Amino acid sequence: HEGDLHTDVLVIGSGPAGASAALFLATYGVDHLVITKYRWTANTPRAHITNQRTVEIMRDMGIEQDVIDEATPHEMMGDTVFCSSLAGDEIGRIRTWGTHPVREAEYRMASPSMNCDLPQTLFEPILIGHAASRGSRIRFDTEYVSLVQDDAGVTVTVRDRLSGHEFRIRARYVIAADGGRSQVVADLGLPMAGQMDLAGSMNIVFHADLTELVGHRPSVLYWVLQPGATIGGIGLGLIRMVRPWDEWLITWGYDISQPPPDLDDAMATEIVHNLIGDDSVPVTIRSLSLWGNNKMYAERYREGRVFGVGDAVHRHPPSNGLGSNTSIQDSYNLAWKLSYVLRGLAGEGLLDSFDEERAPVGEQIVLRANKSIEEFGAILEALGLEDSGQSIEEMQRGIDALADGTEEGVGRRESLRKALELKDYEFNALGVELGQRYASRAVVGDGTPEPAYDRDPELHHHPTTWPGARLPHCWLGDRGRRVSTHDLAGKGVFTLLTGVTGAPWVEAARQAAAELGIEVRAFVIGPKADYSDLYDDWARLREVGEDGCVLVRPDAHVAWRAAGLVDDPAEALTDTLRAVLAR
Ligand code: FDA
Repeated sequence: HEGDLHTDVLVIGSGPAGASAALFLATYGVDHLVITKYRWTANTPRAHITNQRTVEIMRDMGIEQDVIDEATPHEMMGDTVFCSSLAGDEIGRIRTWGTHPVREAEYRMASPSMNCDLPQTLFEPILIGHAASRGSRIRFDTEYVSLVQDDAGVTVTVRDRLSGHEFRIRARYVIAADGGRSQVVADLGLPMAGQMDLAGSMNIVFHADLTELVGHRPSVLYWVLQPGATIGGIGLGLIRMVRPWDEWLITWGYDISQPPPDLDDAMATEIVHNLIGDDSVPVTIRSLSLWGNNKMYAERYREGRVFGVGDAVHRHPPSNGLGSNTSIQDSYNLAWKLSYVLRGLAGEGLLDSFDEERAPVGEQIVLRANKSIEEFGAILEALGLEDSGQSIEEMQRGIDALADGTEEGVGRRESLRKALELKDYEFNALGVELGQRYASRAVVGDGTPEPAYDRDPELHHHPTTWPGARLPHCWLGDRGRRVSTHDLAGKGVFTLLTGVTGAPWVEAARQAAAELGIEVRAFVIGPKADYSDLYDDWARLREVGEDGCVLVRPDAHVAWRAAGLVDDPAEALTDTLRAVLAR
């Protein structure tokens, strides 16, 4: 492989999946190189909902404040409106993204970090900037062409799009983060389930000061139901805030069985004015694009030394805002494993846990996002709107009947309320966002059965230290200052948490770490100990005795736990870590 560029990990793509992979690898000190097709990061806002798990991960990376500084805050995200147009009738309103006071408590108790709205155009440069400053080498205008694998590595042919020159990169591992049209995944032939391009959508990015129309009901999303609007029979349009309240993105459907519409500024302005409901509002169109709604996921994320992450392996509509979040979380799962294997601290087997853990998540979110689209049907049904064959007048009558003092009106109002409640599964699905429980070779069970869900697992978060689950968050005291359990974990290392009578675990962690040549940070939580249990929340959450322990992986998922002290804690911990690290 003389003449080739050499690197330990080649990352293909610089979207949320690739840019975050670069950030994680750079932070962990892994030698890597990023190639990406275009001259810079995403050129349209695309993904924006940034969920708590993602913000937590950025907190671990030390860049949570950068995200908060650029994002629209949680408080301004949630008065989601259904209307006939922004200036027209409001049909219904729901509180979303955990902004209902009852749900807000649950969100705040679940994580040290709140969700926020950060358009991809702003998020990617933050990720890429920090990655580069920490050592990532990033080549823009560089396109993946093909790859060949052998036992020792992968040879990737790439093309410099400025010169047309092709060259080869030799990597020990490759991360395919090249998005929903992934050439790498196609070349690998990863098994895919589902379908692409189920429905057509167009995105219209525009500037317009809509403060007057939305300032009193701040939200990220305004849904507009418009009978007879220019395209597609029933118009369900979406006006999405990009920046409050003057930069926007409208998503509007088109019939994918027909040739794509010839979208120009005039047509886009007409759609914008229809959805605003006031054509005197000055509008400047910024960009237009067409995209397809997909329902597709890879059943396996790995082929040899190449790993698929992000949209390359799961493709779905924007509902639930899971696209970039899941992509970043894939990379977070993979990066520490690659770092341990490359440093010789873990066996190759650890890498098998990547798709054991993430492929079920990908399937879950693809199906969830598609079901959320279908559940809009209940709203249309409540308003008497049908898929086709209705005149504009019939549709309008259906919507008007919502205000009738008749039996029909009572029924409509009741059905609409239920239909809007169903949207909790899209807009308040905390369980989907935080509830992943990994089952894989990188998790060691403690012999207890999986804890049952006492509330809806998609809607609600069920904190548990059951091995495989995400470490529960609560506030601890650092000489009186509040720190999260998550602040003790992460940083690329294993963490052990125990109580005052569990102090022998700390010595055991030191011995296990020395034996295996890894870092294990061990903390006693209790009065006058490393951290205090400020509100006694850890005692309520830990599910093990004070003399037990919870062993946490570098990605803040529980690797193992012990209910109490054991005869030889050092041996128990060493054996467990050996198993987790495939040594
Ligand atoms: P992503 O597609 O972001 O990145 C792929 C990267 O690979 C790019 O950097 C690209 O240049 C590069 N690349 C591609 N081919 C290459 C090649 N051959 N060689 C080298 N590099 C190559 N999600 C959401 O949650 N809410 C939303 O509102 C929306 N809206 C939305 C609108 C539109 C129009 C799109 C297209 C997508 C969305 N999404 C979304 C989805 C969201 O954008 C998506 O889930 C994430 O961007 C996925 O991140 P990835 O990094 O996996 O792929």
